[in-house]
Amino acid sequence: MENHRQVYDENQPHIVIFPFVLQSHIKPLLCLAEFLSQAGLLVTFVLTHQNHSRLVDTLALPSRHRLPNLRLVPISDGFPDDFPRTLGYNYISAMRSATKPHLKELLQSLSSPPVTCMISDGIMSFPIEVAEELKIPVFTFYVCGPRYLWAIFNLPKLVEKGKLPFADDGDMNQEICHDAPELEGLKRRDLPPFCMSKYHHPNLEFYINEHLAMTRSSGLILNTLDDPSLPHLRHLFQKIYTVGPLHSLSSTISDQSNGCLRKEEESCLTWLDSQPSKSVIYVSFGSVVTTTRNQLLEFWHALVNSDYPFLFVLRSDLIRDMTLEELKVCPSGRGYVVGWAPQERVLAHKAVGGFLTHGGWNSIMESIAARVPMICWPPQLSADCSINTKLVSKEWGIGVELDASDTETIKGSIKKFMETHRAEIQNSIDGIGKLAWDSISPGGSSYDNLEMLIKDITKMQHKGE
Ligand SMILES: *[C@@H]1O[C@H](CO)[C@@H](O)[C@H](O)[C@H]1NC(C)=O
Repeated sequence: MENHRQVYDENQPHIVIFPFVLQSHIKPLLCLAEFLSQAGLLVTFVLTHQNHSRLVDTLALPSRHRLPNLRLVPISDGFPDDFPRTLGYNYISAMRSATKPHLKELLQSLSSPPVTCMISDGIMSFPIEVAEELKIPVFTFYVCGPRYLWAIFNLPKLVEKGKLPFADDGDMNQEICHDAPELEGLKRRDLPPFCMSKYHHPNLEFYINEHLAMTRSSGLILNTLDDPSLPHLRHLFQKIYTVGPLHSLSSTISDQSNGCLRKEEESCLTWLDSQPSKSVIYVSFGSVVTTTRNQLLEFWHALVNSDYPFLFVLRSDLIRDMTLEELKVCPSGRGYVVGWAPQERVLAHKAVGGFLTHGGWNSIMESIAARVPMICWPPQLSADCSINTKLVSKEWGIGVELDASDTETIKGSIKKFMETHRAEIQNSIDGIGKLAWDSISPGGSSYDNLEMLIKDITKMQHKGE
């Protein structure tokens, strides 16, 4: 265990952070951990063995050693080695019994300095229970956007009225605001998969309850800018700390890592150097989405046959039923394919003119900070991508929605986006981008909220003594 035996100051506030096992959860929480440790708090960052070894392998270790207040500590997830760790309901719900004892045991063993509080990942409730059982204060961090969270908190009302789950053969385009006025503008299909009958019991109740548990915490931490949906959420939480965009914040600290568990192919940056300014479409569907061979080919043909150079992130686990080799050779020579890209640096590159994204929250934050207009293609039955896309396209006006999946329409949308839309959008995204950077600068809302979080944690420490 890295640094585990090091001697620390007994009076240092000590925070334990436990992210869910996905890259998209680990990354923002690691940014937060780095910030807090830089501010002088001791952070124990807990990962399952599988994720710990991946992260240690890919982190730039020399810089890691310069963050003496941050240590990465592995625990067992409690499953046998050959257990299928497919990240669906079965895995998440089984973690509650399998992983919980290991987390509890670790917390009990951390005594020097004693644990001041825990920051738990809002997707799972068992870490909150562990904290409660050990009488340790706990904050929750939620990786998705606030709109999505607000939608989830309104689901119990729909269940009460007998409107949820939706029948699988029902009209998925039906607006849900008749039954839940709070969710104006959302359609059934915008809600997460566990709202559909096919995925019903016990999933629906399980996920709702997992989310409701967050409200028992001392406060909710969100990787976002200030947002109009927050006043609603504020009624449910003692405190809300908006601290986004966390990746930009961590780029202002000298010893940051990027929290990436995949090997980033930097060669694409050299390729970008050779492309004209704002000419390239950057395409990435994030770290979890999977797709079919046919769907991927529709995108591929649309891109190959459009007039723009493109950089395509083709994760080895993006499709289930084909080998990627056949795509690696781009016939037109205008495409560049990588297994994973250093996304923040790609978006910041002057050659990039647009981001074709699945609409995950981290990607949106990163695109905003880099002021790159987006085309969002929220995959069906993804968690928050659909709701995020609405916010991006309808409210913030910093991207467009791609509501089709066939080659011709995709190609047409790309053309329209590159020729007209993105120029129309640029002003808005410049404005929100500025807001993002202002908010993490001294005096900005995210900056102030982080200071307040640190103050609140330090107060807890003195109460505990
Ligand atoms: C983290 O661990 C889980 C299993 O516990 C695994 O499914 C996932 O792929 C790992 N993530 C990464 C990015 O290594």
